[in-house]
Amino acid sequence: MTIEITGVGSVLPGRVMTNRELEGMVDTSDEWIRERTGIRERRIAGEDTVVSLAAKACERALEDAGKKAADVDLILLATCSPEMLLPCCACQVQSLIGAEKAVCFDLNAACSGFLFALDTAYAYIRSGLYRNALVVGSEVLSKLVDWSDRGTCILFGDGAGAVFVEEAQPGAGILSIVQGSNGFQGSVLSCGAKGGEPIRMEGKEVYRFATRQVPECIEEAVHRAGLSLGEIDLFLLHQANLRILESIGKRLKVPMEKIPVNLDRVGNMSSAAIPVLLDETQKCGKIKKGQRIVLSGFGAGLTYGACVMIWGR
Ligand code: ACO
Repeated sequence: MTIEITGVGSVLPGRVMTNRELEGMVDTSDEWIRERTGIRERRIAGEDTVVSLAAKACERALEDAGKKAADVDLILLATCSPEMLLPCCACQVQSLIGAEKAVCFDLNAACSGFLFALDTAYAYIRSGLYRNALVVGSEVLSKLVDWSDRGTCILFGDGAGAVFVEEAQPGAGILSIVQGSNGFQGSVLSCGAKGGEPIRMEGKEVYRFATRQVPECIEEAVHRAGLSLGEIDLFLLHQANLRILESIGKRLKVPMEKIPVNLDRVGNMSSAAIPVLLDETQKCGKIKKGQRIVLSGFGAGLTYGACVMIWGR
């Protein structure tokens, strides 16, 4: 038995912050940001919160799946930027959307958070404990960023994405999962709790980690699925930096046509990046029934993961 995604939804805050605007805030340029990262603009939450964005994304995912909030057994919300620690964001989403019987909790694995939450839903549903889950990634990173640090403030954006998962139809669903953590290198990407240090990053170290670990992890997941890299139709990767995506593509010998990119418009949204990309890629008709898809994320912790699935809808 395995699980498949039967509904997807996402939301981006309305406020757009361009590179030009950042030029007025720190010593940087549109050209530098585009060349080094691929990012042109990102969304900033303003009044929106991790919870309000997540609730909207969940409602859209439920609508897409043709389900009601009352049907939901489990809500797993991945975030590293909650405005409140208690109650957890997932419980707040439960009350906003009216998912009366859902069991709800948050999970923090930074940019791997959505993938780790999806893997957790997979394990729960396979165990028979629950029949379905809403898996959400939601971030308001703009509130954690040091807006005077040009090395980090240019990278991040706000948004949320959600999927509804349930037992897969024959011939569809998750085929393999690989996860990893390396706490020994944790200091290269850190952020304090409320009122503490803003996001600090040794960009070059994270870059090296991502370009080495992610291809290895994807190869392992594809191998465990009994497939070869050439048989994968799409690679939906964490959107941190265009150069990282290009380097991963090169190492895996995968053409960029198979690696969708939206970071130019949304920046790095940590745990929200993969579900938002999935939603956008699906909505523009790029994902077709029966296609083999890899999802892969990496981030603070350090954490990383990949999963291989057959798209069933
Ligand atoms: N504008 C202009 N110049 C800048 C900027 C900026 N915004 N930022 C840094 N620079 C300068 C540096 O000071 C340095 O100047 P120097 O040579 O005089 O010292 C020069 O540009 C080069 O800096 P590098 O840090 O070497 O630039 P690099 O090419 O490595 O790009 C970047 C930096 C974009 C951060 C890159 O290393 C990167 O993308 N790293 C990975 C980040 C990532 O993937 N994070 C994901 C995880 S996030 C999470 O988990 C929450």
